[in-house]
Amino acid sequence: MVNVKKAKNSISRETGLEIASICGKYFLNLESLHYGYWTGELEVNIANLRTAQEEYTKFLISHIPAGVKTILDVGCGTGQIAKSLLDMGYDVDCVSPSGFLTEQTRELLGDRTNIYQCRYEQLQTEKRYDLILFAESFQYIGLEQGLKNTVRLLNNDSYMLICDFFKKDVKGTMGLGGGYKLSKFYDLITKYPLKLVKDLDITSETSPNIDILDDATKNVGRPVVHSALHLFSNRHPIAFKLLEWKYRKKLNKLNDKYFGGDRTGENFKKFKSYRLFLYRKTT
Ligand SMILES: C[S@@+](CC[C@H](N)C(=O)[O-])C[C@H]1O[C@@H](n2cnc3c(N)ncnc32)[C@H](O)[C@@H]1O
Repeated sequence: MVNVKKAKNSISRETGLEIASICGKYFLNLESLHYGYWTGELEVNIANLRTAQEEYTKFLISHIPAGVKTILDVGCGTGQIAKSLLDMGYDVDCVSPSGFLTEQTRELLGDRTNIYQCRYEQLQTEKRYDLILFAESFQYIGLEQGLKNTVRLLNNDSYMLICDFFKKDVKGTMGLGGGYKLSKFYDLITKYPLKLVKDLDITSETSPNIDILDDATKNVGRPVVHSALHLFSNRHPIAFKLLEWKYRKKLNKLNDKYFGGDRTGENFKKFKSYRLFLYRKTT
């Protein structure tokens, strides 16, 4: 039962990412699926999101240690980070479980990269890498199996680079899921031959994404949904009443989650911690 629930969650998250990719590209000309990295100079507004995403990629790449030649990009999304890395001369392979995103990466990179179309937890290969990268993909991967695979797939003295958000140990919720408990991660990682090199907190630089999301939800999402419901209730009053009654619990839950006003940058800082971690495999 638990596994069925997990599989359902994983499919719906994957579908969510595919929809985000289609809408982001069409409406905002976005190329990537990660948060933006907002430096003080960049005004926080939706028009600057693409630039902020490019800043995130630059920031991430600036933490790749010297000497790294081969990289495994786990959860490569649309392939944009892999492209930047390939253009810089790194040898990059990708892992992508989504047929849709794999296709996008193939279109972008052709035969410049080898894409393993599977979940990272299931990856089988004899190849070994100098760096394994998780750019906002770590939270989607089974924690223990993911770390076990990483240790197996890394050359000696090579690196794991994670840039993703985690949950803080605070009570309550903010209507935004995702992320492992940071305390759980710190505990678990001690069991693997991985030595911490860098641990940077970039929550302040990433939380503006949630303010942008909040603004779009208030000014576009909520009015559009209300108009659609109003139209439907006018045209089909009985069906509307029946559906409203049958799904009232679910609808209330969705309403609280998406329109409850809890998804703000301030709350993101309170409940989540966005980190860049660099670990080195020890022998
Ligand atoms: C938020 S997107 C980030 C994409 C890309 N790294 C970027 O920075 O734009 C999360 C990525 O993780 C991938 N993913 C989800 N579950 C995964 C799994 N079990 N193994 C490998 N990748 C996974 C998704 O397909 C998607 O490409």
